[in-house]
Amino acid sequence: MHKWRLDFRVWHWVHATVILGLLGTVFLRKTFLSWRANSELLTQKLSEIDLSVTEAQAKVLAKAIRAPMWEWHILLGYALATLVVWRIILFFTKSGKQNYLHLKEENLHKKLVKLGYIGIYIIILFMTLSGLTIHFYEALGLAKDTAHDIKEVHEFVFNAVLIFVPLHILGVIIAEHRDETGIISDMINGGSKS
Ligand code: HEM
Ligand code: HEM
Repeated sequence: MHKWRLDFRVWHWVHATVILGLLGTVFLRKTFLSWRANSELLTQKLSEIDLSVTEAQAKVLAKAIRAPMWEWHILLGYALATLVVWRIILFFTKSGKQNYLHLKEENLHKKLVKLGYIGIYIIILFMTLSGLTIHFYEALGLAKDTAHDIKEVHEFVFNAVLIFVPLHILGVIIAEHRDETGIISDMINGGSKS
């Protein structure tokens, strides 16, 4: 049997792509498609052609420009929710639980790496539940203020995802070069059969 069963590998790479996509939408929202920056730009450019807009009108325009991009946050969010369910099912397979079966016998470094994975799973579960709650707050009968408070926490916890992703990628690259040759290709071709 391969170290990583095909369905686990597919899960890992689809999940990685979806998380990177979600981070991409946040990056765009906070930079090129920031409503604050773009409403100032629109106000300035419109005034150059003798059109004046109020602050509120410029905000509406800037948010309309951002909206089609942000739809991807929600679409990728649904994909993430599906991937979370898929990961829970994978926990019942050998590939899905092997990293966590012998935690006590591992050295400190490996223990920390694996606890880090458990940590990121909890964080991703939180991001999914909070994201869905903000999106469906009306249907859930929540007040706008409550949804806003949850959004603040969702936005804060996002930082943990932002920290995990580069650390994880750097970590597996370093491991590949040091004493775990093949760690990355194993996640691609499944690894040696046992
Ligand atoms: C794009 C570059 C990436 C590479 C090269 C990569 C590579 C790997 C490798 C080699 C492993 C196995 C490590 C081990 O057994 O300790 C792994 C596991 C894992 N990766 Fe990635 N990864 C990438 C992106 C991501 C992203 C963006 C996420 C999103 C959070 C992610 C989440 C995970 C998780 C949670 C595990 C643990 C799997 C388990 O439960 O056993 N990876 N990755
Ligand atoms: C790892 C996964 C996720 C990350 C890193 C993430 C990140 C973020 C961040 C940083 C914000 C605040 C943006 C801002 O106000 O500048 C945000 C807002 C939001 N996210 Fe997520 N998110 C994730 C998953 C999800 C999921 C699964 C959903 C569910 C569909 C979702 C739905 C939302 C909604 C509805 C908002 C509020 C947008 C608004 O106020 O207009 N997110 N997210």
